[in-house]
Amino acid sequence: MSVLGATPTRNLALELARVTEAAAMMAGRFMGRGDKEGADQAAVNAMRLILSTVDMNGIIVIGEGEKDKAPMLFNGEKVGNGSQPDVDVAVDPIDGTRPLAFGRSNSLATVAIAPRGTMFDPGPFVYMNKIAVGPEAKGKIDIERPITENLKAIAKAKGKDVEDLTTIILDRPRHDDMIAEIRRAGARIRQIPDGDVAAALMTAWPDSGVDVLLGIGGTPEGVIAACALRAMGGEIQGKLFARDEDEMRRGREAGYDFEKILTMPDLVSSEDVFFAATGITNGELLRGVRYYGDRITTDSLVVRGLTGTVRQISAIHTTDKLDNLSSMPY
Ligand code: FBP
Repeated sequence: MSVLGATPTRNLALELARVTEAAAMMAGRFMGRGDKEGADQAAVNAMRLILSTVDMNGIIVIGEGEKDKAPMLFNGEKVGNGSQPDVDVAVDPIDGTRPLAFGRSNSLATVAIAPRGTMFDPGPFVYMNKIAVGPEAKGKIDIERPITENLKAIAKAKGKDVEDLTTIILDRPRHDDMIAEIRRAGARIRQIPDGDVAAALMTAWPDSGVDVLLGIGGTPEGVIAACALRAMGGEIQGKLFARDEDEMRRGREAGYDFEKILTMPDLVSSEDVFFAATGITNGELLRGVRYYGDRITTDSLVVRGLTGTVRQISAIHTTDKLDNLSSMPY
């Protein structure tokens, strides 16, 4: 059922763009300053403020931050102005805090919403193994199969050779074996320092040159990417990844199954999803925030699951007017 009831319906993703724009504008001030915590706090404050104006009764399900004890919107926190619809909210105020803090590319502010009770709640379990593809390879992947088989299936679905595929994977020692297998299979590899939400989006973005995301990254990022890919017609599968025996034991006690394949419907069970992202630093999908004294410009992406519409929004913000209206100094 639609979160919004009878048609014609409202596109909440357009309101969400204001949320990610505000977070990006505030966080962007921290580019290169080496202050991850300050940047996170600024983005969280901005998100919290603008989320409070959105017509929804939201509960934060994915509040990112547990992994590195960053400032965060807390799981269970109520957001929105309290009016209908009842929704789950996933936020990653900065995906790519490190690249932002050190002036590198591809950091994004992101938020997703879906009807109440439809998003996967990973609890305190921070890592997930992932495989994500765009629409052409949807239905052809299986995280349980060897990487080589997945690459062959993706290549076939896309009408090319494995050697033509570009995989994208976080540059982490935990991926050494996976990278060795991808090399043996013959596919090309982009190792990225951070930011697997942007990487997942690239798999569904025409002409990005990226065919498949592989590897272990954050679970919050996995759920947010699932919302975006659901709307964009792609697919992501995941499996919770325990860092050690103790985490595995705690997971089992809490009722989590580390063997279970988390399919798209497990990660977000409704088609009625909304996703928005705004570039903070320059990236391949979105330009970062630009500051011109009296103006600030932002580039965002908003997607809506029900219609599959993907919008790119370039905005020019007038600093004086925003400062007069808001408690936040832009
Ligand atoms: P944050 O900027 O939100 O901390 O996440 C950056 C990121 O690269 C994610 O995109 C990714 O899912 C996760 O960190 C990987 O975790 P780790 O850096 O611990 O390998």
